[in-house]
Amino acid sequence: MEYNKHINILAETLFKLLSEALGLQPDHLSSMGCNKGCSIVSHYYPPCPEPELTLGLRKHADAGIMALLLQNHVTGLQVLHDDQWFDVHPARGGLVVNIGDLLQILSNDKFKSVKHRVTANRVGPRISVACFFSGHADMLEEPFATIKELISETNPPRYKEFVLKEYIDKVLSSPIDSKPAIDYYKL
Ligand code: OGA
Ligand code: NI
Repeated sequence: MEYNKHINILAETLFKLLSEALGLQPDHLSSMGCNKGCSIVSHYYPPCPEPELTLGLRKHADAGIMALLLQNHVTGLQVLHDDQWFDVHPARGGLVVNIGDLLQILSNDKFKSVKHRVTANRVGPRISVACFFSGHADMLEEPFATIKELISETNPPRYKEFVLKEYIDKVLSSPIDSKPAIDYYKL
């Protein structure tokens, strides 16, 4: 409960900085409800005798708005860049800030979600705590689209408008390794 409180305060600050980076008022993303709907998911990756035969977590991009990840000292998280996997070594006391697909849509691709995975390890256990922001419940029934202040003649929308609830239903019901929900809305 205590951790959640601190995470919410940090998220508020991050959403301010992200709003400013988009050239918007600092409270823009939070006033839309982006800083709400935090759920905490903890992962426990046991040591694996044959790590080359499996993965801790398959390749994916986070579907929500933003994720804040705390990891213990065991390396395993990797990000995909130019078709190559790079380790995200844990930094003591540091958190990983991950842009989710919904923030990519809101920003019209100015912010990019990144594909990542977790390898299996001979050493362990690896433990991580992910806090996912999926937005205020009021956003669920509303049309969801790129922030209109970011759209112009030279920067036309790259995504169709949709209802967030449908998107989340897609994310939750899609089989592993199927087309990511974001791809259905690309123009
Ligand atoms: C996730 C995730 C990474 C980790 O839960 O979406 O990417 O280190 N977790 O557990
Ligand atoms: Ni993830």
